Amino acid sequence: MAKTVTNASDIAQLPDEAAIEALLDALDVSPDSNLISVLQDVQDRLGFLPAPALEAICGRTRMPLSRVYGVVTFYTQFYTEPRGRHTVRVCRGTACYVRGGKTVLDAVKRELSIEDGETTEDMMFTLETVACLGACALAPLMLVDSTYHGKMDSRKALRILMKYRKDSTQ
Ligand code: FES
Repeated sequence: MAKTVTNASDIAQLPDEAAIEALLDALDVSPDSNLISVLQDVQDRLGFLPAPALEAICGRTRMPLSRVYGVVTFYTQFYTEPRGRHTVRVCRGTACYVRGGKTVLDAVKRELSIEDGETTEDMMFTLETVACLGACALAPLMLVDSTYHGKMDSRKALRILMKYRKDSTQ
């Protein structure tokens, strides 16, 4: 059974305060740092932006927490919750919809036992839907991490997910 990961305590190995401070040391975070670059670098290392990391960034940059959270919540590239190893994006745009995108999405949800925005319990996949992935000629389209998988049907989509799962466990 899958679950929505709702907070950082759901992940077993969270970086402790010392690890976060060491990371900010390595990134040389200071009041002169560019906040967006810092957030990107920290997220690259940790996989998401846990609250203790955001608080530590505030301390280093001397920015108020409200400002840092404002930036984090404004940009969709930033995540404050743990994410799966792979991000699966299924297009729900019109071109994909009329060619069976909804069937693909339903099959993926069923297979992973999660809804849009949720992460599988094994932390393997996070599912998102997107208004248009910008390659309508390939509809219906699914994107896994940065790889486009076009002309999808349910069976192909499930085969692809199984392959990612298999490759990740080898
Ligand atoms: S509508 Fe799906 S890629 Fe454009």
